[in-house]
Amino acid sequence: MKYKELIAQMTLEEKASLMSGKDFWQTQDIERLGIQSIFLADGPHGIRKQAVAADKLGLNAGVPATCYPTAATVANSWNVELGEKVGEYLGEEAISQKVNVLLGPGVNMKRNPLCGRNFEYFSEDPYLAGKMAASYIKGIQSQGISACVKHFAVNNQEERRMSIDTIVDERALREIYLTAFEIAVKEGRTKSIMSSYNKINGTYANENIHLMQDILRKEWGYQGVVVTDWGGSNDRVAGLLAGNELEMPTTSGETDQEIVEAVRTGEVPEEVLDKCVDRLLDLIITTESVYKRPRLDFNVEQHHRVSQKVAEESIVLLKNEGGILPLKFGKKVAVIGDFAKDARYQGAGSSIVNPTILDHTLDCFEESGIVSIGFESGFERYGRKNLRKIAKACALAEKADVVLLYLGLDEVTEADGLDRRSMQIPENQIDLLHALHKVNPNIIAILSCGSAVEMPWIGKVRGLLHGYLGGQAGARAILRVLSGDVNPSGKLAETYPLRYEDTPSYRHFPGNELTVEYRESIFIGYRYYDTADIDVLFPFGYGLSYTTFDYSDIKVGQMGVTFKLTNSGDRAGMEVAQLYVGCKSSDIFRPRKELKGFVKVFINAGESKMVTIPFDDKTFRYFNVKTNQWEVEEAQYTIMIGASSADIRLTGYLQVMGTGAPLPYEKEKLPSYYLGRVNDVGVDEFENLIGHKVPVATWDRSKPLGYNDTIEQCQYAKGAVARLAYHLIVFAYWFLRKIGKRSTANLIMMSVYHTPFRGIARMTGGVVNMAMVDGLLMMANGRFFKGLSHFMKERSRKVKADKLRQQNKGLA
Ligand code: BGC
Repeated sequence: MKYKELIAQMTLEEKASLMSGKDFWQTQDIERLGIQSIFLADGPHGIRKQAVAADKLGLNAGVPATCYPTAATVANSWNVELGEKVGEYLGEEAISQKVNVLLGPGVNMKRNPLCGRNFEYFSEDPYLAGKMAASYIKGIQSQGISACVKHFAVNNQEERRMSIDTIVDERALREIYLTAFEIAVKEGRTKSIMSSYNKINGTYANENIHLMQDILRKEWGYQGVVVTDWGGSNDRVAGLLAGNELEMPTTSGETDQEIVEAVRTGEVPEEVLDKCVDRLLDLIITTESVYKRPRLDFNVEQHHRVSQKVAEESIVLLKNEGGILPLKFGKKVAVIGDFAKDARYQGAGSSIVNPTILDHTLDCFEESGIVSIGFESGFERYGRKNLRKIAKACALAEKADVVLLYLGLDEVTEADGLDRRSMQIPENQIDLLHALHKVNPNIIAILSCGSAVEMPWIGKVRGLLHGYLGGQAGARAILRVLSGDVNPSGKLAETYPLRYEDTPSYRHFPGNELTVEYRESIFIGYRYYDTADIDVLFPFGYGLSYTTFDYSDIKVGQMGVTFKLTNSGDRAGMEVAQLYVGCKSSDIFRPRKELKGFVKVFINAGESKMVTIPFDDKTFRYFNVKTNQWEVEEAQYTIMIGASSADIRLTGYLQVMGTGAPLPYEKEKLPSYYLGRVNDVGVDEFENLIGHKVPVATWDRSKPLGYNDTIEQCQYAKGAVARLAYHLIVFAYWFLRKIGKRSTANLIMMSVYHTPFRGIARMTGGVVNMAMVDGLLMMANGRFFKGLSHFMKERSRKVKADKLRQQNKGLA
């Protein structure tokens, strides 16, 4: 242990006190030993530090900070140097706000396009997500603070995120859901990790020994800190035993006391606590320089410009019929769409940033050199139909050579705690598009949303630019691509299916009442579409440029692959070349190809460059469930270099020596997996894959409600008051949506409806403790008066105890 001497001076109570927060965002301090508290703040694409008097739930605006493009956006750049730059700038701003731990990046896989937080995550591919995450972490931590990779692990949906049990086979867990974290730990060397709310195969992530000990600590050698997601702690002692150093936010000492008792009774050996304290002290002490540095005010303008550069490299050109883009000089352009007036540039929820500056398209138009003949909003942002707006937009479009149509998802659709209901963009926007097409078919659509959408309307546009959520300077960045000042070089980090029904997890998202079964196993995203030969709208890795690139001269060696890239067009540009590997043996089921490397290269018009993509420890490995470790199958492998996952330009072969492991599967028991047709796997076959029966998926309505049952389950509670409360919540949600208050409605869904009873104690900063939750549960379970009196008794006991603690503190 690094801080043995310091720990030796601590009382048991002091050690335990470090294991949970002091308030919503800070850790405990121990003044007599000079141990300071540190500050943790969201988030992944800009600092969200709440001002002193801000609300605990973090609903109010934070201190102004640069809002960089979100992770889903930056992943489209496929540029790890750029990721590191973003990290450095985030780190610098964190220091200026005295933040020691930045709660990001988020590296969860995009298992399903409807996950409400996909905009915060990098990709459907673990390799790309891991590499981007590692680059962010290096950048953030280069400033002397800590990144906090989240949400570990298998948190791929927002619905019931605090209670859902994810049933996933070990191979998918390792190859798909953990690889990005592994890269973040081993290459990014993150100092902290946030455990996720959900269960994995029956145990909460935060208490999951297999995840937290076998894999994270032993296999990956992780020495850093594990922080719970906010309010995500279930059983504090079980969490500690699994190696969870820090529970957030505060529980006002309640769970510290549980730790003290567990050590006293011998349930937790004191060395286990000491080790956790040691690791936490390391985080505190190694990020302390934040407090020592003079408060530096970052250069707001410069950071804004960097944010713009990042957005420019992340924009994806999806369609360019007849070379309608870049816009030719002198074209008369009509600007239509509400998003041109008010840019959509970030998602909702815990990642929300209060931007320092905010660019809107209309304000930046002049400098772009594009000549606008006018603007019409064309539709109402939150979906209401408005024929008058359509008519006005059409009248403007008639007079123009080209229509720039700004479409997208509104601010409340992509958020924490909530999944999207469909992959469509609102119908009123599509109605507008159809109407415009009748008067002027030269339409260039500009999309602003953080996740994949369906585009049955794509035939009605000639140009399509996807800006994703480009941060505070995103609007200007888009104009620079439209005008041709910037040659687009982004490529999609996720597949765009033709229809939501085509997605492999369609039948198992967001799962049932208690569980979600990952029946598709390793076949998510392109791994599925490609292997099962399902047509998609845009494949993974796809994106156009204003120039063209030729690939030639492939040479495959033992260490990597080399090839020549030529810019065969007439302007300089950047190409993302992708390495995919497929295995020729069919003894173990696999995707047809998997991303194993990539490179982004700048090439002047007419010039060529030789490019090398090295192989690494992940190029040929697969996880063998029989030997329970990574193995290499002896076989011939196809080495593919592509401009996208569906546009392979060069192919080579390599015979690779294997590790000689026994085959992990009985082929005849897993026919769907061997075919890669996994969109409708039966339960028996899935059980063959996971090696046991699937757990019960629905609530047992005959059982009384307990700590881990959610408020939603009050619908069948024995107590009439609980049922009434449930109906009132449902009504309030419905009513708020009806009157257009979707954001408040969402809040109910996120912070009340799906919250487990224990969450009431975990999220109220100690105002309600678990003994009081017992009272609430009694009421819910039909013993109203007994529960009420218990609640009141526990409340006054708590008030007295708090007072006493305050007095003792004062005396000390
Ligand atoms: C989110 C985390 C976030 C935390 C603190 C949670 O609800 O899941 O991503 O960092 O809140 O705001």
